[in-house]
Amino acid sequence: MCVSKLTMMLVLLLVTKLVQVSGENTSFIFNYGFQSANLTMDDVSEITSSGLLQLTNGTAQQRCHAFYPNPIVFTNNSSFSTTFVFAIRPVTSPASGGHGMAFAISPTKAFPRASVGPYLGLFNITNNADPTNHVFAVELDITQSGEFDDIDGNHVGIDINGLKSMKSAPAGYYVNGFQFRNLSLKSGLPMQVWVDYDGGKKKINVTLAPINANKPETPLLTLYQDLSQVLTNFSYVGFSSSTSALLVASHYVLGWSFQLNGEAQNLDTAKLPELPPLSGKRSMILPIVLPLLSLCLIIFVSLLVACYIKQKRKFSEIVEEWEQNYGPHRFKYKDLYFATKGFKEKELLGFGGFGKVYKGTMPGSKIDVAVKKVSHDSQQGMREFIAEIVSIGRLRHRNLVSLLGYCRRKGELLLVYEFMPNGSLDKYLHNQPSMTLNWMQRFKIIKGVALGLCYLHEEWEQVVVHRDVKASNVLLDSDFNGRLGDFGLARLYDHGVDPATTHLVGTLGYLAPEAIRTGRATTKSDVFAFGAFLLEVACGRRPIERGSEDEILVDWVYGLWKKGEIIEAMDQTLGTEYNREELELALSLGLLCSNSRAKDRPSMRQVVQYVNKEVPMPDLLSLMSSPSCFGFTFEIEKEFDDMIMSFPSSSVDGTHTSISESLLSGSR
Ligand SMILES: *[C@@H]1O[C@H](CO)[C@@H](O)[C@H](O)[C@H]1NC(C)=O
Ligand SMILES: *[C@@H]1O[C@H](CO)[C@@H](O)[C@H](O)[C@H]1NC(C)=O
Ligand SMILES: *[C@@H]1O[C@H](CO)[C@@H](O)[C@H](O)[C@H]1NC(C)=O
Ligand SMILES: *[C@@H]1O[C@H](CO)[C@@H](O)[C@H](O)[C@H]1NC(C)=O
Repeated sequence: MCVSKLTMMLVLLLVTKLVQVSGENTSFIFNYGFQSANLTMDDVSEITSSGLLQLTNGTAQQRCHAFYPNPIVFTNNSSFSTTFVFAIRPVTSPASGGHGMAFAISPTKAFPRASVGPYLGLFNITNNADPTNHVFAVELDITQSGEFDDIDGNHVGIDINGLKSMKSAPAGYYVNGFQFRNLSLKSGLPMQVWVDYDGGKKKINVTLAPINANKPETPLLTLYQDLSQVLTNFSYVGFSSSTSALLVASHYVLGWSFQLNGEAQNLDTAKLPELPPLSGKRSMILPIVLPLLSLCLIIFVSLLVACYIKQKRKFSEIVEEWEQNYGPHRFKYKDLYFATKGFKEKELLGFGGFGKVYKGTMPGSKIDVAVKKVSHDSQQGMREFIAEIVSIGRLRHRNLVSLLGYCRRKGELLLVYEFMPNGSLDKYLHNQPSMTLNWMQRFKIIKGVALGLCYLHEEWEQVVVHRDVKASNVLLDSDFNGRLGDFGLARLYDHGVDPATTHLVGTLGYLAPEAIRTGRATTKSDVFAFGAFLLEVACGRRPIERGSEDEILVDWVYGLWKKGEIIEAMDQTLGTEYNREELELALSLGLLCSNSRAKDRPSMRQVVQYVNKEVPMPDLLSLMSSPSCFGFTFEIEKEFDDMIMSFPSSSVDGTHTSISESLLSGSR
């Protein structure tokens, strides 16, 4: 009696304990990984570091199980509901597949005698379909096994006690209740399964859907079957999977929710642990896409570098340390390049004796400039020359064209001048009658040039000899003021060329006889050139007009003067609109300056006084007492004429040829 009472109490205690463990409405959910689940696992099953439940890990001949540790107590009309997210990844290739996995309810958590491969680790050849197994399973099968009458190699089936499914269907789901969409179980992508058993209606629903899709209204499988005889009172719920020797896959469960006698809690698919990246995709990225991408990158970068180097070379300059001292006078080649639109022929203003002159507009300030491009091979003496150019750049006078700065490149020097909108004087003198200047304008220009030259000779801190005074070097500003340009440039050849070569610079017809003889330019030789310039402006003729009867202008004017008819020498295009006194002054001053004896020529200061009528001109007669004042000059010039004739290529029109140029080109 006592013993039986004690036994009764013990049994009661045990039952309450078990009910406490499993409860009437046992439920659990693993939404954030399985770390805390304490699942009962065997073989290679494991919880990965990210919280995934990995059943088989990609090795052959495995059967793996993972079961909820506590039993679930099923009664005669118990219902249950479960949902889980899984992924199957064939290891070898998707084509070769693998074996599937199953959700199972079983009286045991251990299957030591179960077979691998198609048996999914749940049964073996002898106990398959044995009603004493008491196993309910939903298989996710990816191989078609003939022995179990499988419908295809990608199906979902409801299995009771064996692998020959009670009902099965190709994997997929219904959209809008009836539109079927296929799913590939072995795609490696996560999918969700719902298994619902209604104990009252004896109805089993199995539903499949891709992850992130809502639970489809229409289940994939519906089976009316009473499970009360299948499920034992104490059953375990979990998963089983297997691989064979050839068909290997990894099986994952990402999340799981279960509810006895009720609906399983929804899984929040966004919170599930992440699957490892698809190895298939990675294998495409690594060997093909990545090298291609890096190749493209390398090509792109080298193109960029090539462009940069090309650009850099295009705009490269030579800057030496000593040039830093000259600071603002240095221009950037790039700016000059853009200012002149890339030194376009359209922007060409003219050719000087030393190079081409381009019109430009400075990019920032929009100031118009003239850029002279002087090619210069020699580095020798460049420093002195630049120093001189820059110091000359400091010269400021309203009758001089200001040098704004320079830029130096390999073999090239660029000089930046103020832009003179009305161009050079010679085209007004020699392109008549399309362009002409009246006497008032001409006399203003003469006065201006005289002032500019006087400033160079006497008023600046250093004596600057121009060396190349001529009509084409006189530029006209917007008010038709004469401005002397190109001063000092002749020095370039002094510094540049072989010192052994004669470096006489100037233009034939403007060159003083002593300068030709000694090769040295002085202020007096500038005065001689100014004389030739005076006659040119007053007569509208070049100093030497080749092919004409009165070839040499000064001789012709001298002849007229001797006859007392100097006014006859005037430019006939002036008509009657002229000041006779000024014209006579200009012509006789021209003769005075053309004196072959340097010491008998006036200084530029005196010239300025004469043209301003501050001091009367000395009587030419008294000065011309020595018989061969002029004659000598021209004999010399004739000698040079002959010499130049022997270099015909350099004597373009015979008058504007620099002797130095012809000498240089001849010596090369
Ligand atoms: C995990 O389960 C085992 C038996 O399956 C049990 O012995 C152990 O106490 C459980 N641990 C926790 C933390 O629940
Ligand atoms: C699978 O797990 C077993 C045991 O942990 C291990 O020896 C094997 O290397 C694993 N295989 C892979 C492919 O990870
Ligand atoms: C199959 O499994 C059952 C139950 O575990 C076992 O009794 C039987 O011996 C197994 N058969 C084979 C051939 O392994
Ligand atoms: C679904 O798959 C089956 C067999 O794999 C195929 O016959 C059928 O055409 C597929 N249907 C769609 C809509 O892809």
